[in-house]
Amino acid sequence: MNKNQAGILGIGSYIPEKIVTNKDLEKIMNTSDEWIVERTGIHERRVAADDQATSDLATEAARRALEDAGIGPDELDLIIVATVTPDMSFPSTACLVQNNLKAVNAAAFDLTAVCSGFVYGLAVGSQFIQTGLYKKVLVIGAEALSRIMDWTDRNTGMIFGDGAGAVVLGVTSPGCGILGIHLGSDGSGGDLLKVSAGGSRLPASLDTVAKRQHFIYMNGKEVFKFAVKIMGDAANKALENAKLTAADIDCFVPHQANIRIVQSAAKRLGFPMEKVVVNVDKYGNTSAASIPIALDEAVKSGRIKNGNTILLVGFGGGLTWASSVIKWCKG
Ligand code: UT7
Repeated sequence: MNKNQAGILGIGSYIPEKIVTNKDLEKIMNTSDEWIVERTGIHERRVAADDQATSDLATEAARRALEDAGIGPDELDLIIVATVTPDMSFPSTACLVQNNLKAVNAAAFDLTAVCSGFVYGLAVGSQFIQTGLYKKVLVIGAEALSRIMDWTDRNTGMIFGDGAGAVVLGVTSPGCGILGIHLGSDGSGGDLLKVSAGGSRLPASLDTVAKRQHFIYMNGKEVFKFAVKIMGDAANKALENAKLTAADIDCFVPHQANIRIVQSAAKRLGFPMEKVVVNVDKYGNTSAASIPIALDEAVKSGRIKNGNTILLVGFGGGLTWASSVIKWCKG
């Protein structure tokens, strides 16, 4: 048994105030409230204010997680921000958050694994705790997807939303904390979900802007098929890694992409929906932020209690997937 068992010491999230409903979208794209609710389960999403960037959402979530953990920013050794909507190419959003928090003793970097990013961050951050190199690691999933969405494209424009969630990792009691982790990728599916321009392959130009290549492109049908299969597979791998089965899980916190994907994963794993955390109706798909926001809400509402065993599963662009089994022993 590792004497530096890594676990979550504090959690927080931040959702921007501005609400965009499906009815609002009806006014700007060829869609309907009925279609969006039936095909995705989404009723509304949040959008960052004009003066808010990803680092602002991330900083607020981080402050709440630090408060929940009862530690000061100067105690942080490392900040990891999982995002596909950094404020800019560089400096990293993690460095901007480090400065906002005045986390003067922390290293900082961003991590890109799209919607799997938060669980990837959990995996990376927990390694530093387990080796004993670091005592406190802040892992944040934060996105301002509204800034890279094509608000005229009904194939993608209705799905995404903005928000941030954060956890403080540290040493927890033996038998508690992160019991299992599984990460995976399949780069051959990279073209299914991407932003083509603005990088070194297709630098920003008038042409890339005219062709709307700075917005998210998604092959929804293929991503859907991938998601339905990988959610179950990834969940089973993390359970195997933790030497547990689905019957041991008290609460399932899936990536909030589409209610139909969540329901099909729950069915495959044999979870009644009462065990599944769902908030896609309120926030849409917030990519790397979706799991920590859902986890925070489930903890704060008392749905996840001390001693519960929980399962997190994410999937997304890359393609990537990531899952983790956690024994919740906080507080
Ligand atoms: O975080 C991971 C990233 N993404 C995902 O997990 C998304 C996975 N995919 C999905 O959730 C679904 O594929 C979507 C919600 C994106 C689309 O649902 P779908 O059931 O796969 O619809 P579809 O693309 O097959 O479209 C069915 C019909 C089409 O019309 P026709 O060709 O049958 O006449 C679309 O043009 O619905 C039409 N359609 C819409 N109609 C109204 C597509 N989008 C819309 C829309 N409003 N927003």
